Amino acid sequence: MKVLLAGGAGYIGTHTAVEMAAAGYDVVIADNFYNSKPEAVRRVEALVGKKIPCYLLDVANKKQLSEVFEKEKIDVVVHFAGLKAVGESTRIPVAYYRNNLDTTLTLLEVMQEQGCRRLIFSSSATVYGEPEKLPLVETMKPGFCASPYGWTKWMIEQILRDACKAEPDLSVVLLRYFNPIGAHESGTIGEDPQGIPNNLFPYIAQVAVGKRPKLSIFGNDYPTKDGTCVRDYIHVVDLAKGHVKAAAYAMEHDGLETINLGTGVGYSVLEMVQAFERINGVPIPFEFAPRRPGDVPECYADASKAKELLGWEAEKTLEDMCRDTYRWQSMNPQGYPES
Ligand code: NAD
Ligand code: UFG
Repeated sequence: MKVLLAGGAGYIGTHTAVEMAAAGYDVVIADNFYNSKPEAVRRVEALVGKKIPCYLLDVANKKQLSEVFEKEKIDVVVHFAGLKAVGESTRIPVAYYRNNLDTTLTLLEVMQEQGCRRLIFSSSATVYGEPEKLPLVETMKPGFCASPYGWTKWMIEQILRDACKAEPDLSVVLLRYFNPIGAHESGTIGEDPQGIPNNLFPYIAQVAVGKRPKLSIFGNDYPTKDGTCVRDYIHVVDLAKGHVKAAAYAMEHDGLETINLGTGVGYSVLEMVQAFERINGVPIPFEFAPRRPGDVPECYADASKAKELLGWEAEKTLEDMCRDTYRWQSMNPQGYPES
């Protein structure tokens, strides 16, 4: 079986490449390296012990994408290729709609023309909007998104729902990720944000290695256990394994399924900071700062559907998440080298 990872050179894509290869898939990557580096793919090759065909292209470029399908005979696609910075999406919304929707539409067209009928899509818990009830269950109606980034996920989900209605042989699994953190236990691949990290764990990791002086915790007056926001943090290797299960499911079922990938457990920002300090034995200086616009107080998954349908559940612990993040950051304080 051959799997195309569109956007596969990125954080989640590289970890998925390793798990897909371990499960016996032939992995092909297509990426424009807008938010990643070729070195990440070389590190994956070193981990899996074989060469991975990697195409430098914009997934929205139909001609180039068609050539990859013609050459590689792809059985299943995992679509990671998108812009993902929530704050940036409020400043350049058109670029977000253009990139995230165009990559999806082009993939759908090419897949239909080439007879590839299996697609896994990287969606996000952000489509639930401000939760009315917790935990978040897949049957809840998608909510009002706080950012253009979130709306791209919401819209792509709808596009894929419509495509599945119209094309009965198409199989799509929408994976709604909660908060992926951590890194491969080798410490050779991990999250490599460009510039100032937007997300909590990459920021904590950079404070831990002395790259940034202190963390700002956005808001300590939320109606939560300690006043800071609560999220469902999931180890990226668990998340990657969820894609392997989703691909196997898509092989055997037509139609569309929506599945949360989370642990079902929520931790506050303060709990995460304290866990990182305790597990790694490093201080994380912090200060409280005003709330960040668009943050919801609490967000965690009902993870039971993934278990029932895919036979998947998160296995790694908070300790694994903290230790593996620190190992990656310590071994690669400047991220991947340019090449
Ligand atoms: P990432 O930025 O590390 O990876 C995305 C990859 O897609 C990058 O390598 C980038 O260069 C590539 N890309 C973007 N546009 C492209 C295009 N037009 N053509 C070819 N390649 C393109 O992000 P990630 O954290 O690995 O996330 C992967 C997917 O999961 C994204 O769609 C993201 O929105 C989604 N997601 C991520 C999170 C998270 O917290 N990391 C949470 C929910 C959903
Ligand atoms: N936070 C800080 N300081 C920081 C960064 C983050 O206090 O420097 C806080 C945030 O305010 C929030 C929590 O840490 O309360 C988690 O924030 P992240 O930015 O790490 O994650 P989000 O929950 O905001 O967003 C993530 C992904 C989105 C995805 C969403 C789904 O970045 O792509 O999860 O829930 F849509």
